Amino acid sequence: MKVIRGTLVHCICPESIQVLENYVIGFNEKENGVIVFVEAASKLNDLAAEHGFSIDSVITLTKSQFLMPGLVDTHIHAPQYVNAGTGYDKQLLAWLQDYTFPAEARFQDLQVARDVYPIAVSRSLRHGTTTASYFATIHLEATKELCRTVERLGQRALIGKVNMDRESPDYYVETTQESLEDTKKFIEFVKELNNPLVQAVITPRFSPSCSPELLQGLGDLAREHDLPIQSHVCEQLPEVKYTLSLFLGFQDCSSIFEKHGLLTDKAYMAHCIHLEENEVQLFQQKGVGISHCPNSNLCLCSGLLDTRKMLDLGLKIGLGTDVSGGYSSSVFDALRKSIDVSKALSFGKQDDYRPISHHEALYMATLGGAKVLSLDDKIGNFKAGKELDALLIDVNPPNNTFDTFEWDSFDDVLMKFLYLGDDRNILRRFVAGKELEL
Ligand code: GUN
Ligand code: ZN
Repeated sequence: MKVIRGTLVHCICPESIQVLENYVIGFNEKENGVIVFVEAASKLNDLAAEHGFSIDSVITLTKSQFLMPGLVDTHIHAPQYVNAGTGYDKQLLAWLQDYTFPAEARFQDLQVARDVYPIAVSRSLRHGTTTASYFATIHLEATKELCRTVERLGQRALIGKVNMDRESPDYYVETTQESLEDTKKFIEFVKELNNPLVQAVITPRFSPSCSPELLQGLGDLAREHDLPIQSHVCEQLPEVKYTLSLFLGFQDCSSIFEKHGLLTDKAYMAHCIHLEENEVQLFQQKGVGISHCPNSNLCLCSGLLDTRKMLDLGLKIGLGTDVSGGYSSSVFDALRKSIDVSKALSFGKQDDYRPISHHEALYMATLGGAKVLSLDDKIGNFKAGKELDALLIDVNPPNNTFDTFEWDSFDDVLMKFLYLGDDRNILRRFVAGKELEL
């Protein structure tokens, strides 16, 4: 049993955070970090007697420290890390052709995956992402390498072999049969890996790059193996138009996924900015999650997602960095940008329109993301029975990027950290109760 004593900060609903001052959290390091208790510190002696741990072994946080749930990145492209911070002179469809496909095609060479993936995953971990949902590339071997990399570095991850059998350059495309066969092999590989932290996710890139036959095959595989599904939808208006021009007879982009068995309660779609009203209803009915990627949506000029509307409708919504559509692998960056985007959107709305708060953004970065990935039975907040994925935050480390004053309330300090903090404030990272070494 490992026990941490101090302030715990987490979300149990979108609207407000819970700050548990002078609490103790006990977790079983040897059993995937299962949380055994979350109690007021006044009960420490009784808890020590009951669970047989020594009070001397308790990790006690200082006044400037708190424990929060690990961040959840619901959408990131590991191979695109090589392009993060460049290529923003183009919008989506040209950006894919000019920057993204050439970068991803390099991963045909397994050595590129061996070189790049540890750098991309380490950066994500450094920023506090304890769970990430990755798009890899179309290449089976490189995608397996991404699994081995997250396993070695200790991140919790969903990993998808990308599927693309059409509307793609000759140097970066697969046949329908190759795409399905390699996806089956990948599913088997992840099963054999037998690591509870690593899951396979069905990953059609977006519907334009998949034939109807491929989409159907992927829908069948998702059903057969009860797998989650990730893709992109309604990201940019020219992309919506392009999609509908390829799928004649469909009125909207979401129905294409639905028709092929890809809109399940384990599916989550990136962007969703330009969903029609009936598509939003379809997401509600089916329990489909939204991965909101505000950095990418600004960089590629995609648009502003109405997160207020999605939250008020009770849709599952989490944050994604969408590297390298977005330039930062930090979910804290996504959190800040989600608030900025919501405020920018509010300028054109009625006076009573409420932009999202920093509490709602923190919810999306943690429990909201966990719900999107159907992992909220395991992670997202501190509840007995869940597994401990956590960050130990210090709001006053050496070389801090902000200052606090004695009259600051806890919420002031939290807000300063969320707006101004960075990885210097993350002292320790835990995944399934195990501390990571970077
Ligand atoms: N749509 C299809 N592929 C991609 C991608 O790699 N990034 C983003 N942002 N959108 C996409
Ligand atoms: Zn993406």
